[in-house]
Amino acid sequence: MLTLLYAGADAQWPLYETALPDAVASLGLDAKLTREADPKDVDYIIYAPNGPISDFTPFENAKAVLSLWAGVEKIVGNETLTQPLCRMVDRGLAEGMVEYVLGHVLRGHLGMDRHLLNPDAKWEQIAPPLARDRKLVVLGLGELGTACARMLKAINFNVHGWSRSEKTAARSGDLDALQGVILHHGPDGLETGLQGADIVVTLLPDTHETLDLMNAERLALLAPGAHLINPGRGVLVDDTALLAALDSGQIGHATLDVFRTEPLPPEHPYWSDPKVTVTPHIAAETRVESASEVIAQNIRRFEAGEPPLYLVDRALGY
Ligand code: NDP
Ligand code: OXD
Repeated sequence: MLTLLYAGADAQWPLYETALPDAVASLGLDAKLTREADPKDVDYIIYAPNGPISDFTPFENAKAVLSLWAGVEKIVGNETLTQPLCRMVDRGLAEGMVEYVLGHVLRGHLGMDRHLLNPDAKWEQIAPPLARDRKLVVLGLGELGTACARMLKAINFNVHGWSRSEKTAARSGDLDALQGVILHHGPDGLETGLQGADIVVTLLPDTHETLDLMNAERLALLAPGAHLINPGRGVLVDDTALLAALDSGQIGHATLDVFRTEPLPPEHPYWSDPKVTVTPHIAAETRVESASEVIAQNIRRFEAGEPPLYLVDRALGY
């Protein structure tokens, strides 16, 4: 019998306690999920950064660490981790992110705030442009960025996307999903992608290359009054530069879901800036049923000696 150690958040345990063993059993594997085990007996660690484990040394027989989170910045550099690390790719997570991004993009695009809060009863006939006349760039074309770019294209935005590597026919799945999206990659592609963009959505991982990506220079490339939406990671945005760009009007609004320090401290200027919408890291959540299927599938693969899904490249950091 395999021993699966649940090292996720306490609050999620009652959900995974049954869903995960059921998913594993449905693939014909004999396994028990527990929160306490002799570390030497553990075969797989089901990990979340808000769970109890940061030292993997005692788990000398563990075959892999399977993350319940998509973002792995809190574990990827952990030197005590010698086993393969797989991140979470979950259709529930992607669906949630698409809904969050579409909602906030449309809010800004349609100028909804003007009508939702109109205390002076102003009759201002300002029709928004059509989506096709808005340049929108999605930074990061992975599982989540691609899902968002695809849906934004489907509702007719002029969508650009940016990734580290070039999307080629060899990765035709990517290209199919990104049909109609204007693709950029690498450092030069970033400037072209950002130039004159009305809306920017940042869906990149936290790595040494993405730190402070949206700095003063890059914010200045956008169209005046642009809307920045960051559900990726707090470090993608240079906070001081963003506050200055909001002040000057270069950025019209920022919708931020993730921050360098979470919870965002009460005294942080983002809370009181009327041009900033703070959401508390709720853009997308791993969904227990579909995530359990992904974890179970990966355990089956490890046991069968097949290549695992969603293996993290520890050198790249994602
Ligand atoms: P993926 O690993 O699937 O995709 C990452 C994308 O970023 C890839 O397109 C990758 O390029 C690109 N990228 C990475 N480094 C660079 C770089 N230096 N320059 C240009 N592009 C780069 O991640 P996901 O789409 O699954 O998730 C993205 C992030 O979203 C997560 O890392 C996490 O931080 C965040 N997240 C936030 C949530 C929330 O609730 N707020 C929920 C879940 C995730 P390439 O295609 O070439 O590899
Ligand atoms: C994740 C997240 O990375 O929730 O899964 O941010």
